[in-house]
Amino acid sequence: MKVGVLGSGDVAKALAAGFLKHGHQTMVGTRDTAKLAEWHRGNPKAQLGSFSDTAEFGKVLMLAVKGSVAADVLRAAGSANLAGKLVMDACNPIADAPPTNGVLKFFTTLEDSLMERLQKEFPNAHFVKAFNSVGNAQMVNPQYKAGKPTMFICGNDEAAKKTTAEILDQFGWETADMGKVESARAIEPLCMLWCVLGFTKNEWTHAFKLLHQ
Ligand SMILES: NC(=O)c1ccc[n+]([C@@H]2O[C@H](COP(=O)([O-])OP(=O)(O)OC[C@H]3O[C@@H](n4cnc5c(N)ncnc54)[C@H](OP(=O)(O)O)[C@@H]3O)[C@@H](O)[C@H]2O)c1
Repeated sequence: MKVGVLGSGDVAKALAAGFLKHGHQTMVGTRDTAKLAEWHRGNPKAQLGSFSDTAEFGKVLMLAVKGSVAADVLRAAGSANLAGKLVMDACNPIADAPPTNGVLKFFTTLEDSLMERLQKEFPNAHFVKAFNSVGNAQMVNPQYKAGKPTMFICGNDEAAKKTTAEILDQFGWETADMGKVESARAIEPLCMLWCVLGFTKNEWTHAFKLLHQ
C-alpha cells in the first residue's frame, strides 16, 4: 500500500518505520523535512514531503500530530487529498495545562471528541481511531507474555475499519471495533488512563487487553 504519515514526532516516526518494515511504500509529511534527517538516515526507503505532498501520495493516511493542531494539519494537507481515503487517527485532544496527579487534561468534553470534530470538518474522509492509547515504543509488533494486546478502534466506514484491522494484524495487535465515530469519546480518554501509570509509576511499556468470556 502507499501510506502517507502526517507528522514528524515519535509516533509518526515509529509508525512510518512500521509501515516500511511491513513493505508499504511510505511518505512522511511535515512542515520541515530537516526535522526528519536523522530518522531518514535509518529509514532511507521513506519519502519525505509536505503535509499536502504526503496526503496526495497516500492511498491510506496516518494522522500523528499534536491534537490541538490536527485540523490545521488536515487543512494544510488539503481536503481533496483526503476524499474517500482511510485516515487512521492516533491523535489525542491533550490540553496544554499540566496533569493533575498524573491525569492529563483534555480540551474536549465527554459529549465530544477530537475525531468527531475532524470527521465533521472533513466529511469525505474515513477516519478510524487507532494507535492513540499505547506508547510509541509499543506500536509496532510489541511482545507481551500475555499475547497480543488489544487496539480499540472506531469509525463510521466499515471498509476503512477492515483495512485498519488488517494493518493492526500486521503490526501484531488484535482489534476491538467499538463502533461509530462517537466511540472516540470513550477511546481517546484511554490515553489518559494509559498515561497515569507513566506519570505516577514511570511505567511506559504496558498495553490494554480486552478479555471476553
Ligand atoms: N507520544 C506517544 O507515545 C503517543 C502515543 C499515543 C498517541 N499519541 C498522540 O499522537 C500524536 C502525536 O504525538 P507525538 O508525541 O508523536 O508528537 P507531537 O509532539 O504531539 O506532535 C508533533 C507533530 O505536530 C505537528 N505540529 C505541532 N504544532 C503544529 C502547528 N502549529 N502546525 C502544524 N503542525 C504542528 C508537528 O508538525 P511538524 O512536523 O511540521 O513540526 C509534528 O508533526 C499526539 O496527538 C499524541 O497525543 C502519542
